[in-house]
Amino acid sequence: MDKKYFIAGNWKMNGTLASLSEIIKIDKACAQLDSDLVLCLPATIINAASEKITSNKLVIGAQDCHPKDTGAFTGDISAMMLKNVGAKMIIVGHSERRMSCGETSLLVKEKATSIINTGLPAIICVGETEEQKLSGETEKVVCSQLKNSLPNMSNDENTIIAYEPVWAIGTGKVPSLDEINHVHETLRNLLREVKGASISKTIRILYGGSVKPDNAKEIFSLDDVDGALVGGASLKADDFINIAKQAQI
Ligand code: 13P
Repeated sequence: MDKKYFIAGNWKMNGTLASLSEIIKIDKACAQLDSDLVLCLPATIINAASEKITSNKLVIGAQDCHPKDTGAFTGDISAMMLKNVGAKMIIVGHSERRMSCGETSLLVKEKATSIINTGLPAIICVGETEEQKLSGETEKVVCSQLKNSLPNMSNDENTIIAYEPVWAIGTGKVPSLDEINHVHETLRNLLREVKGASISKTIRILYGGSVKPDNAKEIFSLDDVDGALVGGASLKADDFINIAKQAQI
């Protein structure tokens, strides 16, 4: 079965209106590619970016949201509000939020539930720290995060999983191909138990953590990898497009 790869860029806290030219460059190049392509941008430029893109290929997404739709939550933004300005999907549970904002899997589940209820897909991230990896806890950690972060209504259309080892994010370090595939297989087995065989086969599991144009092809060749969540390399149109092109071959 041919895979349709899913390649998402996570711009994190980078990008201003001056970055629209880079987004337009990515949008133009995306028109020739077959994969599903997403840029998850800072909330401040989602509206402007959504209005500029014309390829019908690139989708603009967001990086986090509050679990409620509206209310007295100073500084927060809801999934409904992000959808209103053009976001077509939202990342939740990124390790940078789990760690620096103390987000629990229960909160991630509430956020993902609100995203899905808003009618958007949620990209749910899981991943172990270096310490957890060294003590042999990778499987236990990612399975517990996934089990506790996954909304009851999740399926292969409204949910995408991203495995991002914390120690591989922004470090240039990448797990071995066997390690990546093993973790993805483990997550898929868990999804089979909780969601059934059919959903577990088609739900997309992305790898994230130092994905670059020169390692993307071998990562995409793995059976249980359906695409990538790209941080640093998604900020430059050439790098992001070169990564996306590796999924074509
Ligand atoms: P890098 O690609 O910069 O390692 O970041 C990965 C990531 O955190 C994407 O969400």
